Amino acid sequence: MSVSSSHNAYLNGEFLPLAKAKVSVLDRGFLFADGVYEVIPAYAGKLFRLQQHLDRLNSSLTAISMKPVMSDRQWADVLNKLIEPRGQSDQSVYLQVTRGAGKNRDHQLPSEYQATTFAMCQAIAADSLDKISRGISAITLDDIRWDWCHIKSVALLGNILLKQQACDQDCTEAILLRDGYATEGTASNLFIVKNNQVITPPKNHNLLPGVTRDLVLELAIKAGISATEREISEQELFDADEIWLTSSTKQIMPVVELNRQAVGNGQLGDVWRQVSTAYSQFKDSLRTQ
Ligand code: PDD
Repeated sequence: MSVSSSHNAYLNGEFLPLAKAKVSVLDRGFLFADGVYEVIPAYAGKLFRLQQHLDRLNSSLTAISMKPVMSDRQWADVLNKLIEPRGQSDQSVYLQVTRGAGKNRDHQLPSEYQATTFAMCQAIAADSLDKISRGISAITLDDIRWDWCHIKSVALLGNILLKQQACDQDCTEAILLRDGYATEGTASNLFIVKNNQVITPPKNHNLLPGVTRDLVLELAIKAGISATEREISEQELFDADEIWLTSSTKQIMPVVELNRQAVGNGQLGDVWRQVSTAYSQFKDSLRTQ
């Protein structure tokens, strides 16, 4: 089945315009945030690190006691059909799976359910990426979120309230602190650079195992830069030469100001330039594949 360009959403087996996609008010995603999601960029019609995103989707589903809703091949087919009519333009694909609608509102997990499977795509705004690459400001905040941050859950109230505190202070992101250590951003993973060494916190329940994070580590190592995964104390964060925040939609954001103080010399870092160039080249190689 071919999908027309007005069909920018997929819901439970059907491609349709986003405005026409409707779910029940009894959907457990709506009532309990009982669901998980992914955000996958597509450059020139090619999904970026699709397998890694689908692997994480399936880990998130397992973590909330749900079964995969379709095979990786079926997901690839659905997502490719969504982006195909949009030609070479860069897109961000959002997908969400919830435990579906019950007969009434009941906290207990149903023994049987019909999952709600949803996806939509929207254009990636190149101008906002350009702005980010000139350097962003961030603040630190206590991480008030729950203990299972490794699950890409749609329960994002903690994340969005923290992000809003950053926005209220004219900052782009908040870097979260837990027990004296920096974990991640509200919608991004954290890296610091000290003495030319790249450091990012290890994967554990305090942070989302970011797909961009893994790629940035791979690219840094390939470029001969020393990179390690270890905890970053609050003090190390403030003493860092460079700070970066990474995500699928924002790529590698250089933080040039933290809590109104310059990070390092307050300029874009040399190591950021190197890794960011490697990231762009990696993306470009995908475009021409
Ligand atoms: N968020 N940590 C958190 C809490 C996130 O929400 C995200 C991404 C990341 C980075 O993960 P990745 O590199 O796989 O995108 C880390 C997406 C983009 C979002 O919620 O829109």
